[in-house]
Amino acid sequence: MKEESIVSQFKPVFFYKKNQWINLPDIASDATLLNVLRLQLHCTDVKEGCASGDCGACVVAVADTVDNPQFRAINSCLRFAHSVSGMAIYTAGDLAEMAGGHLHPVQQAMVDQHATQCGFCTPGFVMSLFSLYQNTRGVEQTPEQVKHAISGNLCRCTGYRPIVDAGCTMHLYPKVFASSIPSLPLLEDSAWQEGGYFQPRELTELLSLKAKHPQATLVAGATDVGLVVTQRYQKLPEIIDLTRTQALLAIESSPYVLNLGGAVIVQDAFDAMCQTRPALKAYFERFAGGSIRQSATLAGNIANGSPIGDSMPVLLALDAQLVLTKWHDQRVVRRTVGLHEFYLGYRQTVLDPTEIIEQILIPGTVEGEWCRAYKLSKRQEDDISIVAMAIALCIKGGILESVRIGIGGVAATPVRAYATERTLLQGGWCEQTITLAEQVLQEEFQPLSDLRGSAKYRKLALGNLLRRSWLQYSGQMATFADISQRP
Ligand SMILES: Cc1cc2nc3c(=O)[nH]c(=O)nc-3n(C[C@H](O)[C@H](O)[C@H](O)COP(=O)(O)OP(=O)(O)OC[C@H]3O[C@@H](n4cnc5c(N)ncnc54)[C@H](O)[C@@H]3O)c2cc1C
Ligand code: FES
Ligand code: FES
Repeated sequence: MKEESIVSQFKPVFFYKKNQWINLPDIASDATLLNVLRLQLHCTDVKEGCASGDCGACVVAVADTVDNPQFRAINSCLRFAHSVSGMAIYTAGDLAEMAGGHLHPVQQAMVDQHATQCGFCTPGFVMSLFSLYQNTRGVEQTPEQVKHAISGNLCRCTGYRPIVDAGCTMHLYPKVFASSIPSLPLLEDSAWQEGGYFQPRELTELLSLKAKHPQATLVAGATDVGLVVTQRYQKLPEIIDLTRTQALLAIESSPYVLNLGGAVIVQDAFDAMCQTRPALKAYFERFAGGSIRQSATLAGNIANGSPIGDSMPVLLALDAQLVLTKWHDQRVVRRTVGLHEFYLGYRQTVLDPTEIIEQILIPGTVEGEWCRAYKLSKRQEDDISIVAMAIALCIKGGILESVRIGIGGVAATPVRAYATERTLLQGGWCEQTITLAEQVLQEEFQPLSDLRGSAKYRKLALGNLLRRSWLQYSGQMATFADISQRP
């Protein structure tokens, strides 16, 4: 971390910290929250481990100044400081202050359960647990809820059992909550607009900025873009942040379509999708870790275009459509593109340089629909897919009316398995056709071998996943969700 790299001719950042609003002038557009906290505010209670979102040592809690704010545990190493300007930021050192000089219940439980040894990971764990405690008003948590909350935190010496025990006992101590956060003193509009970091509030502002500055980096949760700065050491002098654009934050649901705005974070998007398709929950819980899911957006996952991105197999199987929007001839211009036609090649999409994903439209459930998704990776949480497969089919009166299969990890882009789908439609959803379709699926793609898995393994695994879906559909095999819910 070099101090000079974060101070330059840029606009200020405002944080509510330690019961006051702090104004930090001249913060570079690509300064990370972690660097600003440690180097400008000397908050050494937040740690840097990997600087790539993987370890959780840098997790802090952020909250908006609205009434009953949602506390979000995020990786400060990847988020840009400007993106959380105007919010309250909590680090582990704030908690004892909150508890009147004593340890906060989360911290006391960590001590009492012997949940820390070298202590390097501890502030990150404490902040993930604090967000859970604060959002649930200190009620008792199940081990599953605690594991979910700390799924983005790694501990290399203590082991997780005592940490989970701490999360499950933090409710036993006298309650301590963050005090309410006063509104940010009124800022001139220019405070949000000038400098190299733009945070437009209106969609038209966002689109015209993108048209004027096509070279600027569009950023949402920065869980991909942040790596460009922290791992590739590149400078991003101009950033357009779309997370304050109100129109992109909406989630609208009707029986026919779920409409997710282009800045909706994955955790909220997955929760909305699981309202009508609860069978997808176990799959979505395996997307990154808890703190990444609190920053990453669904549109960012789609636009990033990684062939192993985990949302796309599901969205392809559900036939999601994207509303792509830009500013042209002084007006907003929209087009709708199916996700299956969005990718042109490895990390190439049909988006033109001034266009954004404004909405993701997911068709509602239909009678006879059955949908499942599977991810194979070396770890249960916080790991990248080797292969992923999602299948959505519709069976009426025993007849297979439609089937879509979305796959990740076998080609340069996320793909539909059209040949396998055709085989199933021709032969019907039965044991005999599955045996044939398994072979078709194994031959439909030519995956690469890499350190995560060989091409042979990927092909075999794909066929097996299709068989798994058949076994589950026909009641011959329990789902992971069924197994994990057994007493
Ligand atoms: C530790 C770690 C674990 C991860 N684990 C997983 C995982 O398990 N599965 C998985 O799929 N991914 C994973 N990722 C990748 C990443 O979290 C996702 O791709 C995420 O959804 C990106 O969203 P974002 O908002 O952070 O995107 P950003 O980093 O802000 O942006 C990514 C790209 O999308 C563009 N973009 C963002 N929003 C829009 C929009 N509305 N319109 C047009 N372009 C847009 C940006 O310009 C940029 O090119 C992981 C990342 C990390 C660091
Ligand atoms: S430092 Fe490892 S996740 Fe941020
Ligand atoms: S206590 Fe040492 S890494 Fe967790």
